[in-house]
Amino acid sequence: MRPTYKVTELLGDGIGAELSHAVHTLADALPIHLNFEPIDLSLENRRANKTKVYDQAVASITANTVALKYPTITAEESPNQVLRRRLDLSVIHRPVTTIPGVPTNFRRDLDLDIVRIATGGTYDDPGRMIGDDGAVSLRIVERRPVREAARYAFNLARKTGKRVTSASKYTIQKATDGLFETVAREVADQYPEIPHNVELFDALLGKVIMTPEKFQIVLVQNEYGDFLSDMACGLAGSLGIGASANLGFDPSAVVRVAMFDAAHGTAPDIAGKNLANPTAIFLALVLLLYQIGEIDVATAVKGATLDLLREGTRTRDLGGQESTDSFTAAVAAEVRKRLG
Ligand code: NAI
Repeated sequence: MRPTYKVTELLGDGIGAELSHAVHTLADALPIHLNFEPIDLSLENRRANKTKVYDQAVASITANTVALKYPTITAEESPNQVLRRRLDLSVIHRPVTTIPGVPTNFRRDLDLDIVRIATGGTYDDPGRMIGDDGAVSLRIVERRPVREAARYAFNLARKTGKRVTSASKYTIQKATDGLFETVAREVADQYPEIPHNVELFDALLGKVIMTPEKFQIVLVQNEYGDFLSDMACGLAGSLGIGASANLGFDPSAVVRVAMFDAAHGTAPDIAGKNLANPTAIFLALVLLLYQIGEIDVATAVKGATLDLLREGTRTRDLGGQESTDSFTAAVAAEVRKRLG
């Protein structure tokens, strides 16, 4: 019997239905069974049922521990924000990969896993004026989220055979970034087989551009992760093709719940036309597969998707001729071939 996993499927708006269809087609090609539990997060249902929809979503994600979310219209509220807050999703994992077929000014290959603490840093305090000529804001670093992010980063390294770099300005921000690096090192000591090095964050930015192959998993605080993600996406030329994992932890820093989604929106201009590119949602599914420990399956889906793009099998947004359905069928066939 195929191993079975229950997955909350957060249905959305616009191209969400087509992406869901694509995900189910791909899931059927896998040697595991993903038992999807749908929750309707469409704007219509959110307006009709208000907080009940979120109560249902939170209960389902808490029970199943993993969720795949399709894009949703941000209207009265942002569903991503509501779910992040209600599920205490304190860490964001954002892989950034150069994707064949996506035009970019960068000539090198990039394959970075950015693990970012999504709370604290300078972002929790808007600051205040001191008289007319000065202003201050607090920068907050706490052991708990650093430990959670670090454990996630090192577990990811253990699963994927990658190495971890932690980056900050510990030489200047001695207390805050010093604490961050201390906790990162404490966690690193629990994973002696995983290579870990420390970089100053400004130097890291230059080095990622000059020698991207030296960096695999990068562990950073909130604002540094924000800057690094956008720089890396800019290098990869793929602001809308990426995916991310939003992670919540139990008191011992083990992942309690994880929600995976694509970076792009609902693409209302092409909804219902069989034109949507499912690459980002497939990459979100890859992250989910890593999380549930199906590493070979994850690697096959990622490899099949990227190799087909490299060979020119692409949807129209990437200059190709494929529809959502035909691209999905090609990926599913390739995955079947790779996994036997
Ligand atoms: P968008 O990402 O939906 O669309 C921007 C452009 O990219 C459009 O031309 C669209 O056709 C194209 N595009 C996006 N995804 C594509 C895909 N998979 N395949 C092919 N082409 C694709 O951004 P926009 O127009 O700013 O937002 C539309 C709606 O999406 C808004 O209501 C916004 O609130 C929502 N949104 C939701 C997000 C989420 O649920 N995580 C994230 C961003 C926006």
